[in-house]
Amino acid sequence: MDVRTCEINLNHWYVVAKSTEVTTKPIEVRLWYHSIVLYRDSKGKIHGLDNRCPHRQVKLSEGKIVENSLECAYHGWQFDSEGICTFIPYLLDNQILPTCKISAYPVQECYGFIWVYLGSEQVLESRKIAPILISEWEHLNYISTVSVIDCEAHFSFLIENLMDMYHGHLHNDYQPWTEAKLTTLTSDEEKVTVIYKAKSYYKINKIWSISQLFFPQFRSLHSESLMVSYYYPHWRSTLGEDFILYCLFCPISLTQTKAYLIHFTSLNAFHRLHKLPRWFRQFIKNKLSGTAQKMLDGLVKQDIIMIEQEQQAYTQQVQKPTYEINPTISAVQKLIKQQVK
Ligand code: FES
Ligand SMILES: [Fe+2]
Repeated sequence: MDVRTCEINLNHWYVVAKSTEVTTKPIEVRLWYHSIVLYRDSKGKIHGLDNRCPHRQVKLSEGKIVENSLECAYHGWQFDSEGICTFIPYLLDNQILPTCKISAYPVQECYGFIWVYLGSEQVLESRKIAPILISEWEHLNYISTVSVIDCEAHFSFLIENLMDMYHGHLHNDYQPWTEAKLTTLTSDEEKVTVIYKAKSYYKINKIWSISQLFFPQFRSLHSESLMVSYYYPHWRSTLGEDFILYCLFCPISLTQTKAYLIHFTSLNAFHRLHKLPRWFRQFIKNKLSGTAQKMLDGLVKQDIIMIEQEQQAYTQQVQKPTYEINPTISAVQKLIKQQVK
């Protein structure tokens, strides 16, 4: 089995949008060859249906919400949140509504994102499958920044990039660590975890340490452990105690991958902060969110160039061998293959 043509395991929750993108105006999102229409009802609940009107197969995301029903733009047929046709404006007295039903997918909103499940509902219930836990999202001691990755490549190229810390070579100016050295690798049927010994530039222990983010002269190299995990299908990494990253995957096709990279900076070291009122801590969290945007977007841009070149090279010469010396990569590829078996 060639990893570059591996499908995804649908029995997981995938992220398809940021919460803020979904309103009462329907939008189209894509996940693994599915076009899905997402909208919010009047109570704020999110619904996700197959984005095809059963009448003439046009996209329902072109339509609008009328009294909590999704109305197709073309002839005005309406559907409820379960996908059942409830109204046709020109139905004659002697006609009945067709029994067409659009597929409705399990959807949930958590950690500021919309998650969709396309797999077996029986598996979902029996195994109690849940989105990856992101406890830092609501925690008042963590400041978040989100960057969107959109690349013309198979998802395996992106996860291999994220797991192989030797590619730090590419990011000299942007990343907070250097000199990574692989020390431990563990894997099973659900995850691969690798620990690298690295040196970090930042130490967030005093209020003024924030200035290290802007002024390189305040940084000093010190040893930190860099832990990276592929919790199929998503990714998490920690650098010491101060930095945590997640990458939430939304594979679209064999050659297109979207993902959301979340960066958290911890304020745990500021003991006095904990004594402040909650509203003030929430205010600080909101105010500081997005501070790592430039760094994160810069990293993403550099990575996308490499990942897309890997895909292009693969497409042009599928049989051409590549040479790899980081054992993490074969563990990641093994997991991807196991998950679709
Ligand atoms: S195509 Fe949707 S109502 Fe006709
Ligand atoms: Fe990178």
